[in-house]
Amino acid sequence: MDYLKAKGIKSLSGNIEISGAKNASLPLIAMTILAKNNVCIKNLPDVADIKTLLKLLSNLGASYEYNKTETFVDTSKLNQTKATYDIVKTMRASILVLGPILARFGHCEVSLPGGCAIGQRPVDLHLKALEQMGANIEIKSGYIEATAPDGLRGCEIVFDKVTVTGTANIVMAAALANGKTTITNAAREPEVVQLCQVLNNSGVKIDGIGTAILTINGTAGRLIDIKDFTVIPDRIEAGTYLCAGAIINSELTITKVEPKHLGAVLAKLEEMGFTFSTTKDTITIYPAKKIKSVKITTQEYPAFPTDMQAQFLALATQADGTSIIEEKLFENRFMHVSELQRMGADISLNGNTATVNGKSKLSGTDVMATDLRASSALVLAALVSDGETNIHRIYHLDRGYDRLEEKLKGVGAKIERLKE
Ligand code: UD1
Repeated sequence: MDYLKAKGIKSLSGNIEISGAKNASLPLIAMTILAKNNVCIKNLPDVADIKTLLKLLSNLGASYEYNKTETFVDTSKLNQTKATYDIVKTMRASILVLGPILARFGHCEVSLPGGCAIGQRPVDLHLKALEQMGANIEIKSGYIEATAPDGLRGCEIVFDKVTVTGTANIVMAAALANGKTTITNAAREPEVVQLCQVLNNSGVKIDGIGTAILTINGTAGRLIDIKDFTVIPDRIEAGTYLCAGAIINSELTITKVEPKHLGAVLAKLEEMGFTFSTTKDTITIYPAKKIKSVKITTQEYPAFPTDMQAQFLALATQADGTSIIEEKLFENRFMHVSELQRMGADISLNGNTATVNGKSKLSGTDVMATDLRASSALVLAALVSDGETNIHRIYHLDRGYDRLEEKLKGVGAKIERLKE
């Protein structure tokens, strides 16, 4: 198993290029199930989750040619409708095949994803919405079995909670449904917006893109001719590297990014005393005179993302004063706290709120990654620690960060990948 060894450093400088967004790529790959053509996807990131989903599609009979610049996915020969436990257990987002497979074949079985390190993460809202669209859903032996022999029908869906993959799943199901589907309280994340835009550009008329009310005009089972598209930049990867610049208090430029998608993250960094210059696709962060404490509540887009909570928690250990970080989306998303405490951070946890007293002197030690974003928080803490930190179980990190150590090395970090 790989691990990362990182040494504390005093400065970082240069440019980091951002890869395509993992969380945009996953629904876009699932969307190819709705296509009648061989779909060309540009700018897929080189991360494990993408390979997992491509493998799932190929297990179902699809074929693909993976290449970072252009990947082709051909689902014309897809003839299996069961996503088995062995794959779903490695990636919960496999649930994204449920909507499109059911819409195309009238049948789909997906292993129940179960909980994960950051919380229970139910999929009840996906299932309820599909039932409203006419699907019959049963849970049998750990599998979701969904059938809709006469196809899905458009209807009015109101989500009780904003769900990102739930919205994506239903948008894809609705794309092939009979008639019009309206989703109220839809997710407005840029990744959902891109899915809707690609479908809309490919002939599935969708109104309200980017708003909380989406109206999807289904094709009544007709497969779609999906136009080539380029995956949007990964806003969470970009935010993570901005935090790297911030924690070392150095000037750093992030390229191939969409600054518009990082509004809440930049606002919090600004409150902490950092300044920026942006162009249409770059952000440069400049050092703060003094790093100030911050109050953060994670919420749905466009508010502060839960996927940036762990990185800001690491950063808050280097701010002067008390920072308060409240996690509103996932009930157990503070596993990184105990590892940061072992490095010397002064953090107390009360329910879903972390109180961070800074500034702490952190020291390198052996730490364990517990989930994807927690892993990057440990890397950030390692950059600013005295001595050496060994970060174990980085398979979590590899699920979503494209060549993290290579990118950080390029701006002066002392970090290497080793084998246990
Ligand atoms: C997606 C992202 C993940 C991010 C999260 C929140 C992908 C592949 N993953 O996850 O990185 O952290 O959005 O921005 O895009 N919920 C229910 N029932 C459901 C579905 C969700 O109760 O059927 C709850 C969840 O437990 C959670 C909240 O709704 O509390 C939001 O979850 P959701 O937006 O669905 O997260 P994911 O789509 O799984």
